[in-house]
Amino acid sequence: MGAGKSTLGPEVARRLGRPFIDLDRDLEQDLGTTIPEFFEQRGEAAFRLQEEGHAIAALRLPDPAVIALGGGAVQTASIRNELRERAFTVRLEVDPATAWERSAGSGRPLARDESEFHALYERRGELYDEVADARADNLDDAVLAAAGVLVRFGAVEQLGSLVPGDGAVALVSDPHVGGIHGAAAQIALGQRLASVHEVPQGEAAKTAGVVERLWGELRLDRGGVVAALGGGSTTDVAGFVAATYLRGVDWVAVPTTLVGQVDAAIGGKTAIDLPQGKNLAGAFHWPARAVVDPATLETLAEEQRLEGMAEVVKTGLLAGEQFWELPLPQLVQRCAAYKAALCLRDPHDEGERAVLNLGHTFAHALEAAAGYDDVTHGRAVALGLLAALRLSGRQTDVVEHVLAPTPVRVDRNRAWSALQRDKKARGGELRLVLLGAEGPVVEARPEAEVRSALDELIAE
Ligand SMILES: NC(=O)c1ccc[n+]([C@@H]2O[C@H](COP(=O)([O-])OP(=O)(O)OC[C@H]3O[C@@H](n4cnc5c(N)ncnc54)[C@H](O)[C@@H]3O)[C@@H](O)[C@H]2O)c1
Ligand SMILES: [Zn+2]
Repeated sequence: MGAGKSTLGPEVARRLGRPFIDLDRDLEQDLGTTIPEFFEQRGEAAFRLQEEGHAIAALRLPDPAVIALGGGAVQTASIRNELRERAFTVRLEVDPATAWERSAGSGRPLARDESEFHALYERRGELYDEVADARADNLDDAVLAAAGVLVRFGAVEQLGSLVPGDGAVALVSDPHVGGIHGAAAQIALGQRLASVHEVPQGEAAKTAGVVERLWGELRLDRGGVVAALGGGSTTDVAGFVAATYLRGVDWVAVPTTLVGQVDAAIGGKTAIDLPQGKNLAGAFHWPARAVVDPATLETLAEEQRLEGMAEVVKTGLLAGEQFWELPLPQLVQRCAAYKAALCLRDPHDEGERAVLNLGHTFAHALEAAAGYDDVTHGRAVALGLLAALRLSGRQTDVVEHVLAPTPVRVDRNRAWSALQRDKKARGGELRLVLLGAEGPVVEARPEAEVRSALDELIAE
């Protein structure tokens, strides 16, 4: 009561693209009277009975929805069971004084006496803890919770309690990250740690050979969990192994690069590379949890930070907010929440998730023309963002200030034919993600315009 369910609920639903159900309001409509009146006339027990029927029916709806439960619904055991079985439950945190301030004078039957209200708050608190899968006190945190993402300083040290379930854990990392953060993760996993696995550093981890070796090394049963500690290369390969081992076991992403925390560990895409190209074999396999610890970024090299900032600027441009100006924990939280919501609305990349390709059509063309080793993804994305902004009729100073990309020296014709290949792969039409007045749009542009935007990114 007074936690903000009716305010935050519809906003969470909008961000996730799900309908919003306010159980108290629905109940009042059905009863044809207000809850205070019903309480007055029939008493709490009769009310709880009505509430039980409504809550369980809503929780059993076939399509996912965001549901605001009445504050006392958790007192009913069958509702608690249903929550455990069918819902991901977020406890909205509020301090008792604020909750009382919001509820007092609302006419709610259980908010008439301040000391009784506080006692009720205490009693219900334990039940809330029992059913809650996550806690949140703002919109981004609620969205992140729904996506299974936890952003918390020092989370690696608490990994043992943050890996869902009680199954055995296989920890995967590269030697560099393992050397820096591995020991803390292993200690935190304690008794649950079943095995430790190493993958090569960087893109070299994402091969069929590494996947096959990991399949052979794992000794997990279906209740086991793969935990991937590292950058996007490690989470991509370990996530793919988890998607396929025993036809799929749970996995937890523990991203340690900025790219990982704002991009690679969010959204459920896992992949390895084939000789024919990057990310050509993979699976959608949403991590049971992404444990994002911004403290791990303290050991990251400056070039690696800049790689991540390219995706941060991209995300900020898409969201229409200057995420790149925020201090680190908030920056990670806001970017991760933006991507998480988008991916929950379009989990299999069949629609609006395409906007995450802002700047990437150009970036991929430059990377292909340069050979992937000669231009980093971040630099190519920064350049691609310049082209996307120019074609959108926008200023480019943000990209210049934050990312300062220099043009790449590649063959113009090779870059152009790489971009044409991208077009063929997408059904023959070159559609670019651009920024309109209301946010991102996907549009076709005349070839000459696209070609000259690409040429501008290439050094003489
Ligand atoms: N699945 C997705 O949705 C998705 C999205 C974006 C990128 N990706 C993939 O992510 C990969 C790139 O990931 P990346 O940029 O995180 O790089 P990375 O995983 O290759 O790591 C880069 C380097 O940083 C080091 N490192 C990692 N964490 C560190 C830390 N905390 N301190 C010091 N060093 C650290 C690693 O040892 C490695 O040498 C690409 O393969 C890309 O395809 C996937
Ligand atoms: Zn990218």
